[in-house]
Amino acid sequence: MLVLGIETSCDETAAAIVERRRDGSARIVADVVLSQIDEHAIFGGVVPEIAARAHVEALDDVVAAAMREAGIGFAGIDAVAATAGPGLIGGLIVGLTTARAIALAAGKPLVAVNHLEGHALTARLTDGIAFPYLLLLVSGGHTQFLSVEGVGRYRRLGTTLDDALGEAFDKAAKLLGLPHPGGPAIEQAAKRGNGERFALPRPLIDRPGADFSFSGLKTALRLAAEAIAPLSESDVDDLAASFQAAVVEVVANRAAHAMTSFAADHAGAATLVIAGGVAANQALRTALAAEAGRHGFRLVAPPLRLCSDNAAMIAWAGAERVALGLLADAGMAARPRWPLDSASEPMLGSGAKGAKA
Ligand code: KG4
Ligand code: ZN
Repeated sequence: MLVLGIETSCDETAAAIVERRRDGSARIVADVVLSQIDEHAIFGGVVPEIAARAHVEALDDVVAAAMREAGIGFAGIDAVAATAGPGLIGGLIVGLTTARAIALAAGKPLVAVNHLEGHALTARLTDGIAFPYLLLLVSGGHTQFLSVEGVGRYRRLGTTLDDALGEAFDKAAKLLGLPHPGGPAIEQAAKRGNGERFALPRPLIDRPGADFSFSGLKTALRLAAEAIAPLSESDVDDLAASFQAAVVEVVANRAAHAMTSFAADHAGAATLVIAGGVAANQALRTALAAEAGRHGFRLVAPPLRLCSDNAAMIAWAGAERVALGLLADAGMAARPRWPLDSASEPMLGSGAKGAKA
């Protein structure tokens, strides 16, 4: 089965074609991602109107490039999948409308995909892992532990009470005068810095449960920076390193709690998957691998290119749904908010303020 996927929920315009074989194995046939980062950089974040316009201008070419890369026409695909939410409404409408038009014209089914489900199922595309597994999704708009029990079956074990982790990285970078997106900039600066110079708080560490909070850490970073301003380059490096050290320690601690609670419900299942843009952070990966090892879990981390936003994950989520006959309502409208675990109430402010929310 060949599925065309389209992703336009934030600042990447992406199209991909993924093959799903009868045995459940997968192959990425074409994968095109056009980043709008340069268009938003001078604003220090993603500007929704600019993003929507850029998607309109680029999407036709991006889809055509993916089809060319695959060497097929629309007649050769079996379904069209597009991100219908959560994300910036303008971009979502552009992607979903384009997908609907292609599906109608080519007489193929349309699958409306939840962007978070795309991230959640990526490890099955890349590593073919079986359900159930524990997922840590850390991106610019989302920070949550999910028990992934099947396609469309997710239970949230923890989430952020305020900022998403990627958002915290981005705000910390802005505060230190580092470029956007902040995550990679902080990681680079942290490599040169001393992570023990500033004693920043570890919010919620050792508290029961697997929730996160980052706003107090961000405030502490600001106060530490203000206390020694003006900042030299090595001050910035030390602040970045101290911030990242706090984050990594907190995430490893929360992961320990999440693994204990997941293991209690799923005897024998012991896989921790990380996904989302922040999963690119090497210090975080190393700490999570160690923590997973201590709990008898193995850590699965998709390749960096598939951790950040892309359309292969949307095509794959679409293929998983088509294979099970789980087609969401094809007339569905784009949804800025769309929690994966509908039984869990959104926490106040969770992921609501991020550039990617
Ligand atoms: O998943 P993603 O591409 O977009 C969505 O949020 O859906 O994630 C982007 C986020 C940004 O906040 C960016 O700063 C963060 O991921 N990020 C990182 C790193 N690379 C990207 N954060 C920490 N360390 C990194 N190396
Ligand atoms: Zn994402």
